[in-house]
Amino acid sequence: MKKNKISKNWIKKQHSDIYVRKSKIEGYRSRAVYKLEEINNKFKIFKNGASLIDLGAAPGSWSQLAEKKIQNSKILSIDLKEIVKIGKVEHIVGDFKDDKNKKKIKDYFGKKVDIVLSDMAVNTTGNKSLDSIHTCELAIEAMNFSKEILKNNGKFVSKIFMGSSFNEVLILGRKIFKKINVYKPPSSRKDSKENFIICQILR
Ligand SMILES: C[S@@+](CC[C@H](N)C(=O)[O-])C[C@H]1O[C@@H](n2cnc3c(N)ncnc32)[C@H](O)[C@@H]1O
Repeated sequence: MKKNKISKNWIKKQHSDIYVRKSKIEGYRSRAVYKLEEINNKFKIFKNGASLIDLGAAPGSWSQLAEKKIQNSKILSIDLKEIVKIGKVEHIVGDFKDDKNKKKIKDYFGKKVDIVLSDMAVNTTGNKSLDSIHTCELAIEAMNFSKEILKNNGKFVSKIFMGSSFNEVLILGRKIFKKINVYKPPSSRKDSKENFIICQILR
């Protein structure tokens, strides 16, 4: 499909999407917020006083929700892109894969954290299997980082795309965590390979 046809279809989809309209009314920056809300409703990720890292945070709706739902939170977000400031959330602009940025995150908290979220995704190329592999690579990197920075009873939530790399993510998850769930929130588009992995309690 030609690029301008893809973007016309995308605009059409956005206009008719109830989650897009709801996010505008409720003041969230992206429809992605409802995926996290649905994940939290089902798996009870948030708890008051939690420290939380939001990987791939732009434009910021996950951090907005976490800030609203968690009392006395300490939240750090990172993305390749700048975001408009959200309350007390601190933001790093940069590549999460860069060791320098991983160190910045560790230094910011100075101790282990309660929750790591990753909604990181590469810019889609139109080649679904390649996009799925690249997004799963980001999930694997985030999972390995979570192993280093999470408290024993910590929680890791990550976007994954169903595809050839999915098993790799699952196998690694089972090695690192005691409890694993794979979940597609109702607000995740039906025609997308997107799913989420929810991992709890380090081995
Ligand atoms: C689907 S969006 C995240 C939406 C966000 N959860 C929200 O609620 O607004 C995916 C983000 O991942 C970011 N991203 C992709 N690769 C990254 C990397 N290596 N380091 C940091 N951010 C990355 C992209 O820049 C993009 O903003």
